[in-house]
Amino acid sequence: MILLDGKKTSADLKAEITESVKLLKADGKKTPHLAAILVGTDGASMTYVNAKVKACELVGFKSTLIDLPENTSEEKLLQEIEKLNNDSDIDGFIVQLPLPKHIEEQKVLNAVNPDKDVDGFHPTNVGRMALDMPCFLPATPFGILELLERYNVETSGKHVVVIGRSHIVGRPMSILMSQKRKAGDATVTVAHSRTKNLKELTLQADIIVAALGIPEFLTGDMVKDGVTIIDVGITRIEDTTKKSGYRLAGDVHFESVSPKSAYITPVPGGVGPMTIAMLMKNTLLACERK
Ligand code: GUN
Repeated sequence: MILLDGKKTSADLKAEITESVKLLKADGKKTPHLAAILVGTDGASMTYVNAKVKACELVGFKSTLIDLPENTSEEKLLQEIEKLNNDSDIDGFIVQLPLPKHIEEQKVLNAVNPDKDVDGFHPTNVGRMALDMPCFLPATPFGILELLERYNVETSGKHVVVIGRSHIVGRPMSILMSQKRKAGDATVTVAHSRTKNLKELTLQADIIVAALGIPEFLTGDMVKDGVTIIDVGITRIEDTTKKSGYRLAGDVHFESVSPKSAYITPVPGGVGPMTIAMLMKNTLLACERK
């Protein structure tokens, strides 16, 4: 069993990005600048946004955090987005999800200029992705492709079962892995909450992408020997033995699945750190494309 080490791979990537930034600066070009909008005080979202800001510092980017209260109106949020769209120093920005219930998420995502949409969530970027056109790939799927590529995991002709059809992970993963590309050319099955014979499907899978958000859902009896496992889940579970009061669990029951796996991502330290590194990569691309 080989661990797909997202912590190490993302550190390599960030070192490469740091070098690119140094070259840009030496060339007299502008410093990449990422902005993040956070609405409210959701604990996980605050952790993610702070990690994104910290990663910017590490690679030498400028960063701006726009921290708005929970009761911010949709109109005010749309105004903030318009400001970032029109700010020529900002190369890319993200609106951290989920948003409070009174704000319509799709309306907000539609307001982001697609050229600054480093999350790849705007319909223009999603459409361009589906059509194999140059675009910003959403950071989590982009990070998974990068991990598979860097570990030379064979995907061509393999059967990939993606569990979950979210706009952020499952849907784009299923599109990308079926495309003609490195870490692609696979036969993809998308399973979801209405799938009837899931275990029958996962037992056939050469590669499983678990992105359903149910901790330790995929167990050893559901996978075949030699499978590759990508665990996208990250759920906080109460654990009084931990200083923080919780532990992080993936969608995969690591103890029973890992002995049967050829490759597997750990949680934490697998897909999560890759997501942040790919956001940095997209911001660098946005800056270079200008
Ligand atoms: N919430 C969970 N994942 C993401 C992500 O990749 N980007 C944003 N903006 N919000 C998220």
